[in-house]
Amino acid sequence: MSKKFYITTPIYYVNARPHIGHAYTTIVCDTIARRHRMLGDDTWFLTGTDEHGQKIERAAQAAGKTPQQFTDEVSAQFRALWNRMGLTPDDFIRTTSERHQQGVQALWRKIRDNGFIYKGTYTGQYCVSDELYVDAEPGAPCPDCGRPTETVHEENYYFKLSAFQDRLIRLYTEQPDFIRPETRRNEVLSFVRGGLRDLSISRSTFSWGIPVPDDPKHVVYVWMDALANYITALGYGSNNTSKFEKYWPADVHMIGKEIVRFHCVYWPAFLLAAGLPLPKSITAHGWLLFEESKMSKSRGNIVRAETIVDVLGTDALRYFLLREVVFGQDGSFSFDALVQRYNSDLANGLGNLASRTLTMINRYFKGEVPYPSHAHTPADVAIAAAAKKTIADCGTLFDQYQFSRALETAWGLVSAVDKYIVENEPWSLGDKQDEESRSRLATVLYTSAEALRIVTALAHPVMPDATAKIWAQLGLGDIGKFDLTELQWGQLHLGTKLGEVQAVFPRADKSAVDRMQKMEVQSVGTGEARQPAASQTAPASPEVAPAKPAATIPDGKISIDDFAKVELRVAQVKTAERVKGADKLLRLEVDLGTEIRQLVAGIAEAYDPETLIGRKVVIVANLAPRKLRGLESNGMIVAASPEGGKPVLASFLEDVPVGTRLK
Ligand code: MSP
Repeated sequence: MSKKFYITTPIYYVNARPHIGHAYTTIVCDTIARRHRMLGDDTWFLTGTDEHGQKIERAAQAAGKTPQQFTDEVSAQFRALWNRMGLTPDDFIRTTSERHQQGVQALWRKIRDNGFIYKGTYTGQYCVSDELYVDAEPGAPCPDCGRPTETVHEENYYFKLSAFQDRLIRLYTEQPDFIRPETRRNEVLSFVRGGLRDLSISRSTFSWGIPVPDDPKHVVYVWMDALANYITALGYGSNNTSKFEKYWPADVHMIGKEIVRFHCVYWPAFLLAAGLPLPKSITAHGWLLFEESKMSKSRGNIVRAETIVDVLGTDALRYFLLREVVFGQDGSFSFDALVQRYNSDLANGLGNLASRTLTMINRYFKGEVPYPSHAHTPADVAIAAAAKKTIADCGTLFDQYQFSRALETAWGLVSAVDKYIVENEPWSLGDKQDEESRSRLATVLYTSAEALRIVTALAHPVMPDATAKIWAQLGLGDIGKFDLTELQWGQLHLGTKLGEVQAVFPRADKSAVDRMQKMEVQSVGTGEARQPAASQTAPASPEVAPAKPAATIPDGKISIDDFAKVELRVAQVKTAERVKGADKLLRLEVDLGTEIRQLVAGIAEAYDPETLIGRKVVIVANLAPRKLRGLESNGMIVAASPEGGKPVLASFLEDVPVGTRLK
């Protein structure tokens, strides 16, 4: 029978767009979930968005939107990005959904009925950015994030956290894997040993939250609301609890190190109070740093995943994050390091091994996996032994979440095979027709292809796209159907017909770094990414800035945000030709600085194609693609269209760099 495996990410605040810090946690969980699926486990992978609380309410106000409208938009951006990145959550929970609200209220009732909730008043400091009650004097900054705290005085409900101090200490000591890594466990232990005070679990001075059962002028404290997602998503509190019964308790809650206390102290205490089983493990990873500090919206130093995915693809980002960052510790992100890793390990490493091995099988054995000879040399035996060891070691390292070492180990095999190929010179053997040379050539290429197959299977959870391609090129069909528990040396069937061989990781040149940097700088204008340097030192983060009243928009007008949705960019025409059978249409290829796009434009009656080459034009770059005469048009060229006259292209008197955004 297959084992069940339930893994969760934190649910992400929707006060800002996702960045690669969020992507990091989600990629780690996606990799673990994929590996468990490959091992045949009945896997459930949950992610979602955390949408209530004062921080979100204020962010919505600042954006001139209702909280619901605002959270709908940002939550959709998270979902769209995860989709685009090929991430595979089985469910996406939103805390504003009916099912979640129902589940939270059921949890509250259960804890209340068990006698762990009482009414009181709270007077003290609150950090809106961390949504954290802070034990400090008025005016003191938040000890966790350093932002100003606010004084709160309100009627509230308390949770008897103090009643759980001893049980929690016992839990951490008796079940050392409950909190991983050990450094985090020690921090939590000393915090709890220092004494636990009862926790305020409701707010009554704003309304963006889940109403407290039987006292709706209170809303549930956002952290209690958010933590419950791990069970409400499984149907806790609904009339269908089959998933809850099947998957709870979670095998792993994966979190960033800054939210350890909420997960390791409050969450188990809530569960104990409700009489529910505890998760098996809470695993905290470190932060992704950019320009030496934690990547975060309020610091203004974020990098968007889209930029990297556009230029190098999803697998490159996944590989980089798992290989470069030592899991559990902080790790730095830089575009230079990303491109360097991509070139050394992917383009020159795995990609090169795949293309040289498969190309030679095509050339010398008509694209069929050759039969190795029985007479193995010590070098052949060494590769087979190294591959067997790699399978075992990699498995152990992956299971211990030592991703960087697991990949290092697998790439050790890539280097060993590279060296083996160089030393055995299959290209020289390929020139000879005698039986001994043919048989030696067959053995060298079989050995290389088999090692390639093994690395490909091991790397699949980390790089699902590229490995699926290599697998198909090896003639093995759909890698999704492969059972990883079966992986062993010597399974590559002799005579297997290879698929079409294509490069999987084209080499990136220096311009890749420039392009990504440029894309990030350009996205500042759209409010999506890095803020200009000055705002990095601004004292108040946007989340804690006083709320501005929502602007009202007169009828028939649009807001600046509406305009900002239209992405107008400067592009340069590289190719232009008439579309056969269509008098008005030209097919154009334009350079956007970051990519070449095909457009189909109705300007053939006004412009001869050859006069357009090199001309800078304005295009709507984020228009959904559409087909004209069977050709896909990815964007629209902007032109004045006089009544009854010919279109006139928008252009500039001064020179403008290609890719510049119009705003
Ligand atoms: N909403 C809460 C979590 C509630 S879970 C019941 C929250 N959200 S968050 O959006 O601020 O951050 C969520 C997670 O995103 C972090 O715990 C971490 O996993 C990830 N990261 C956000 N920024 C990050 C980095 N710069 N580096 C690594 N991970 C980061 O906290």
